[in-house]
Amino acid sequence: MEQRYVKESRTYKTSRVFPTDVNNHNTLFGGKLMAYIDDIASISASKHCRRSVVTASTDSVDFLSPIRPTDSVCLESFVTWTGKSSMEVFVKVITEDLKSGERTIAATSFLTFVALDENKRPVTVPRVVPETEEERRLNETATRRAEMRRNRREESLQFSGHLTTKFPWE
Ligand SMILES: CC(C)(COP(=O)(O)OP(=O)(O)OC[C@H]1O[C@@H](n2cnc3c(N)ncnc32)[C@H](O)[C@@H]1OP(=O)(O)O)[C@@H](O)C(=O)NCCC(=O)NCCS
Repeated sequence: MEQRYVKESRTYKTSRVFPTDVNNHNTLFGGKLMAYIDDIASISASKHCRRSVVTASTDSVDFLSPIRPTDSVCLESFVTWTGKSSMEVFVKVITEDLKSGERTIAATSFLTFVALDENKRPVTVPRVVPETEEERRLNETATRRAEMRRNRREESLQFSGHLTTKFPWE
């Protein structure tokens, strides 16, 4: 079976925090960071499988500390685990105070992408091979997260069956 190293999907992006990106607390708007996360994670997933990919789910985005206009925001992402057609991508957000150089893990996120063939059907992806201690730890703990995702998807599907598509004004 085809395989790729985690490092082959590793992707980085560093940005400034611009005045239009902040909320009323003068810290980075959460939605802006979520867009950055989905963007970079999709690049890691594409690099791993060299196919079209779609975001199947985002487990969570844990905002661990506020991101200020004086910080640079560096996102790092890589594929940590693969199923058959699905890939788990981990995103780590590291801020650096540009005056002091102090670094902080500001957010982390796990997302799942699915590789699609030419007919937009899920297609098998290469197995991922972790090498560093961090990569191995993330890979070893991934099956438990995949199980939680399966259960959550079941619940979401059942729950959506009880929801109405009516708008309030109808
Ligand atoms: C994700 C999607 C392609 C799955 O297609 P499907 O026909 O339901 O396929 P399957 O049920 O066979 O699942 C295929 C794989 O996706 C995984 N998967 C599906 N939904 C998932 C979810 N919510 N979270 C995590 N993994 C999911 C399955 O576990 C399976 O993984 P595996 O092949 O590694 O075992 C389909 O639901 C879809 O297109 N969703 C919309 C995606 C989208 O538009 N994203 C952009 C958001 S705006």
